[in-house]
Amino acid sequence: MAELTDSYLQATELSHSFGPTEILRDINFQLEKGKVVSVVGPSGGGKTTLLHLCAGLLDVEKGSVNNTFNSFAFTFQDPRLLPWQTALDNIAFGLKAQGMGKQQRKQLAIDIALQFGLEHNDLSKFPKDLSGGMRQRVSFARALVIKPELLFLDEPFSALDIGLKQELQQILIQYVCQQNTAILFITHDLMEAVKLSDQILLLATDPGRIVYTFIIDTPIEQRSDQFIYNETVKLLAHPVIIETFELSVSL
Ligand SMILES: Nc1ncnc2c1ncn2[C@@H]1O[C@H](COP(=O)(O)OP(=O)(O)OP(=O)(O)O)[C@@H](O)[C@H]1O
Ligand SMILES: [Mg+2]
Repeated sequence: MAELTDSYLQATELSHSFGPTEILRDINFQLEKGKVVSVVGPSGGGKTTLLHLCAGLLDVEKGSVNNTFNSFAFTFQDPRLLPWQTALDNIAFGLKAQGMGKQQRKQLAIDIALQFGLEHNDLSKFPKDLSGGMRQRVSFARALVIKPELLFLDEPFSALDIGLKQELQQILIQYVCQQNTAILFITHDLMEAVKLSDQILLLATDPGRIVYTFIIDTPIEQRSDQFIYNETVKLLAHPVIIETFELSVSL
């Protein structure tokens, strides 16, 4: 592997079992500052397990995970907001934990909430009074308000309609390009992976193992819809993708 001088996340010979069931086998990859690495693969293949191991939410039993980033945050498919706190307090939560004063954290939380498309009158609402899409906007704002060097995303767009998905992806791309945030991005949506990643790791199932790595050199902010579409079509025709996702191919 290349020598790493900046911050990085590195998984080395990482394997994991739940009881007698082998879930992940010999996973090796590295994620460097400002890069997006996505993990795609069929359901049940161990993508979330891999993210949990990398994020320290699950104990590493075999192999190693080395994370030298100074700060990290999460956004999951399910927004997981604190139900007894308003949208604004949910967003500012991480800043409070950092010891920032009330006025400053309120201002930062409002700024990022507006960037993520929330409106002033949404901010005093409790999660139960927000739509699913608004809750996900809050979840992104909460994760990014602390300016994490590394962001863990586990299918954060999969419950959203295509319009909202596109909008939030665009905001996220702009934000992380500005901040040089690294992302470990779990998805089963190939087009989404092509849109957002520098590197795509293909995780085959039983046990979960990386069977192919796709590199996309074009900078993320320069990818047109046509480019994304063309690259996705190419991937869908790739034998290793066809085999891993068990796609049926009509000739
Ligand atoms: N805490 C746990 N205890 C036992 N088995 C688990 C646990 N968590 C996950 N598994 C099993 O590990 C396997 C991989 O699950 P994981 O959630 O990592 O898959 P995934 O690739 O994220 O799937 P999806 O795309 O559906 O989210 C599954 O068979 C699942 O049942
Ligand atoms: Mg999962």
